[in-house]
Amino acid sequence: MSHAPRTVDYLRISITDRCNERCLYCMPEGFAGWKERADILTYEEILRVVRVATGLGLRKFRVTGGEPLVREGVDGFIAGLAAIPGVESISLTTNGTRLAPLARLLRTAGLGSINISLDALTPSVYRAITHGDVQPVLEGIHGAIKAGFDRIKLNAVLIRGMNEQEIWPILNFAAEHQLPVRFIELMPISMSEMLNETNFLPVGEVMRMLRERDDLVPLGELRLGNGPAQYFRLRKLGVTIGFIGAITNLHFCENCNKIRLTADGKIRPCLGNHNELDLRAILRSGGSDEDVATLIRNATTGKPPEHLFRQNYQPQRIMTAIGG
Ligand code: 5AD
Ligand code: SF4
Repeated sequence: MSHAPRTVDYLRISITDRCNERCLYCMPEGFAGWKERADILTYEEILRVVRVATGLGLRKFRVTGGEPLVREGVDGFIAGLAAIPGVESISLTTNGTRLAPLARLLRTAGLGSINISLDALTPSVYRAITHGDVQPVLEGIHGAIKAGFDRIKLNAVLIRGMNEQEIWPILNFAAEHQLPVRFIELMPISMSEMLNETNFLPVGEVMRMLRERDDLVPLGELRLGNGPAQYFRLRKLGVTIGFIGAITNLHFCENCNKIRLTADGKIRPCLGNHNELDLRAILRSGGSDEDVATLIRNATTGKPPEHLFRQNYQPQRIMTAIGG
């Protein structure tokens, strides 16, 4: 398939591979392959990369992990990002567990919008998926609402046999707080065994399920933020829903505008492709800004046309170091 050239203007930055939760689809049980502290980029190193990246037309930046809020000093880092000319938007993806006490600080530092993972509302189901407690996440969501971000979205990864029964409760919760929800198809990012015929729940099936009770009105070209979701309005309930059909939507990659910076300093042009370019080696061997720029340019021009998730893709490193 041929594509019009995609404009890469979006960088996702993983600031840590650590997390205080253990989502089934993200961390293998008993995982212990954490990166050494010294292998993780310092905030200064990341800010240097961002300064160079803005010169190449990257404008939108998302901070992820692991769980970004487990790293000390995120608010200072966000303030550093916000001070760089050419940084147009800063967003954060979080599991929400540590958000309540930090929301206001992050807002003041210049954070624009937040995506919060919420795979279930029932405490036992939330725990079965994440190994954590849902209560602090709900407090985090409320804290974020109070702090007044430009946009807050909820993310739910679909897992058959685990959270189908949570879909309506999540939608009711979202409607009550007027937050958009995005349903995400399970991807073979960390462990291929997690994605199998039994667990996989396609977004199309969720759409059919919602249509049995409500009207699902397509919102056409509406984009909320920079993600690949297709948006709909659930008319009677009054909530906006995004579907991230990473596996079943064959056009999923066509408008992909992003590249990733991993916690250990690799540029990853595509989540579903093993290719990575070693930026850290350049940063730590006295490379010039022009060397950094050349690597980023190679990553954007070398972006594969689409992910390999449908080709028996075998993940080699876990999601948590790559940053969603
Ligand atoms: N498949 C789909 N989504 C995933 N996420 C993490 N791992 C996977 C996976 N294997 C989601 C998280 C969060 C975002 C960073 O990506 O739930 O919403
Ligand atoms: Fe942590 Fe997010 Fe991975 Fe869950 S998906 S274990 S919250 S990094």
